[in-house]
Amino acid sequence: MKSINVGVIGTGSISAMHLQSYQKHANANLLAVCDLNEERAQRAAEKYGATKVYTDYNELLADPDIDAVSICTWNNTHAEISIAALNAGKHVLVEKPLCRTVEEALQVQEAVKSSGKLLQVGFVRRYDPNAQMLREFADKGEFGDIYFAKASSIRRLGNPGGWFSDIERSGGGPLIDIGVHVIDLCWYMMGRPKPVAVSANTYRKLGNRSNVRNLSFYKAADYDAEKNTVEDMANAMIRFENGASLLVDVSFTLHSKENLQSVKLYGDKGGFEIDPEVSIVTEKHDTIINIQPQTDNKGFDFDAAFQSEVNHFISCIENGTTPLSPVEDGVEIMKILCGIYESAEKGAEVLL
Ligand SMILES: NC(=O)c1ccc[n+]([C@@H]2O[C@H](COP(=O)([O-])OP(=O)(O)OC[C@H]3O[C@@H](n4cnc5c(N)ncnc54)[C@H](O)[C@@H]3O)[C@@H](O)[C@H]2O)c1
Repeated sequence: MKSINVGVIGTGSISAMHLQSYQKHANANLLAVCDLNEERAQRAAEKYGATKVYTDYNELLADPDIDAVSICTWNNTHAEISIAALNAGKHVLVEKPLCRTVEEALQVQEAVKSSGKLLQVGFVRRYDPNAQMLREFADKGEFGDIYFAKASSIRRLGNPGGWFSDIERSGGGPLIDIGVHVIDLCWYMMGRPKPVAVSANTYRKLGNRSNVRNLSFYKAADYDAEKNTVEDMANAMIRFENGASLLVDVSFTLHSKENLQSVKLYGDKGGFEIDPEVSIVTEKHDTIINIQPQTDNKGFDFDAAFQSEVNHFISCIENGTTPLSPVEDGVEIMKILCGIYESAEKGAEVLL
């Protein structure tokens, strides 16, 4: 089978996960990389064996040898580069969040339709082996009707700075950056019910706390603590058409004793936890049973999840199948995220 020639646009921090996954894929050929920062692109090309280096993504997209791209740039460029790539006849794997607004998301969706090319949203949590295992359990009715989910992604200190904390380029703070992961994961596990209402709060109380010493955290490739125009904490209650609800809280910083990563879902036949560790709760013969599934990793496996995301992307291209995280899901998640920001601003529930 002809191998798929890939270009990676944006060679900052997270691109390494894409680059190494393509490098390890037997039928993907990492052909080109692109970054505004030429030196960074050059370094990535050398490390992962790409032969072409670009600083203008339009030039990469004009390269007829390239079949597909990963977009690992700032959030404000996701829609623009996705649309340009689709119109240039390339398949697209775009990092989360799909973009910054519902309007942008609908424009990307339109480009997917008109181009006939494939777009996969990088909702990497879905691709983790444990998530796939639990999704299968849910599909087989193990948990019954999942009516409540609760997720926390609390960093006590972890504003990544640079573009992440510049609302123009990021579209928001911890909600759009890390909240997107757990909201999508819960929504996917719940069977993607239609969101109907959101009630939320965002806070700008602590700033980025770049004064704090002795603790390290994830940083943008061009870390800069100078500008911080995003929220440092958000919480939300999301209601769905089927009566289910999702409660979520996220932060870049909070006076929390420790970081907290927790994803729990509850159905009428059983419950389960994904973060921090996989477990299942059920009832048998009038006794509550806690089950510990035996899998390679108890928690989220970064490398395995990105490899599985990339494997899925290549396989969808080869087979012409729709990805597990299609553009439509990116649009729905943007509706929820933007609804949360709108509700917080209005101080009232927002109907979606
Ligand atoms: N899936 C995950 O778990 C995960 C984790 C971190 C980041 N991300 C997402 O990945 C994306 C990148 O995040 P990051 O942490 O790598 O940021 P980063 O700042 O480390 O890297 C971004 C890179 O994109 C380059 N860039 C920006 N605009 C460009 C353009 N128009 N053309 C070419 N290059 C451009 C920058 O020069 C930089 O090198 C973001 O959308 C972020 O939300 C996803």
